[in-house]
Amino acid sequence: MIRSVALGCGSYVPARAVANADLTNVVDTSDEWIVQRTGIRQRHIAAEGELTSDLAVAAARAALVHAGVSVEEVDLIVVATSTPDETFPATATTVQAKLGMTKGAAFDVQAVCSGFVYALSVADSMLKNGLGTTALVIGAETFTRLLDWGDRASCVLFGDGAGAIVLRAETATGATDERGVIASTLHSDGRLHDLLYVDGGPSSTGTTGHLRMHGKEVYRHAVTKLTEVVGEVLIAGGLTSADIDWVVPHQANVRIIDSVAGKLALDPAQVIVTVDQHANTSAASIPLALTAAVTDGRIQRGDLLLFEALGGGMTWGANLLRW
Ligand code: ACO
Repeated sequence: MIRSVALGCGSYVPARAVANADLTNVVDTSDEWIVQRTGIRQRHIAAEGELTSDLAVAAARAALVHAGVSVEEVDLIVVATSTPDETFPATATTVQAKLGMTKGAAFDVQAVCSGFVYALSVADSMLKNGLGTTALVIGAETFTRLLDWGDRASCVLFGDGAGAIVLRAETATGATDERGVIASTLHSDGRLHDLLYVDGGPSSTGTTGHLRMHGKEVYRHAVTKLTEVVGEVLIAGGLTSADIDWVVPHQANVRIIDSVAGKLALDPAQVIVTVDQHANTSAASIPLALTAAVTDGRIQRGDLLLFEALGGGMTWGANLLRW
């Protein structure tokens, strides 16, 4: 059988960091409120003219260097984003061109904050089916461009950034102690649209629109659905929560992260948290957090990682990856 083995990862955040206190000039909020409710202390905001594809390319280049893989070896790019450069073509094909790649396939996956979990699952399935040998899976967002800066309940929560991993199809026996993607579980329920959406688009208003959110309801669904999907992916992988070395959750809110980890009886020290530094970067948050923990040496080769995320749609899912 084939397993999609992670060879390396990388990330990029825009230079401009905006602290909570800086937002008090824009909306009626406070550092204390934001930290208490979310754990967020700052977010990075892309410069004028800095595009999602620019963030994605910077993260991809860092991941390729970390993996020791050249651009010429890559034959698949999957970009998870809800903030593409343009309505079409896919940001992934722009990334392909900016990287100087002239072969292979590139396309976007749109599952909002679950985007990276979805993209990893799609790339893994493609590699297992021979539709590529070496893939770049990228989560990249300029999410702050969707924000209504008059809505204090949502605008303080998000940031911009990108993260990427390099996957390679390698022959394996299927044992759970072998490196690579072990299992993925994906879900969606379109009836929950109104809890988190953007009120625009090419086919509806002809404008980009702004993010709209019922925060309390999103919170409630996040805790229950994420706990369920983690149980499902562990069963699919033939593993238990005791086997997990590190949880790399979608970084939306430290209270959601703690609550899910608590229900799984995981030690908080096993959970990678970067939401304080990056805020919610949607599809970019998992590879950003992953790269932070790989770079500082917490995550080591052979460790079992759990990725879990929930986002607009609603969509939610989880992956098990032996790093
Ligand atoms: N600063 C100060 N006060 C604020 C702010 C703000 N930025 N935003 C809202 N408030 C006020 C409200 O007006 C309200 O005041 P009132 O009681 O006088 O009416 C009060 O704070 C409480 O508001 P709630 O909405 O009840 O606050 P809650 O405790 O639910 O926290 C939050 C809000 C942080 C959004 C929470 O619901 C949450 O984290 N939900 C999850 C949303 C999320 O993470 N979305 C990301 C996308 S989905 C995902 O990634 C999982």
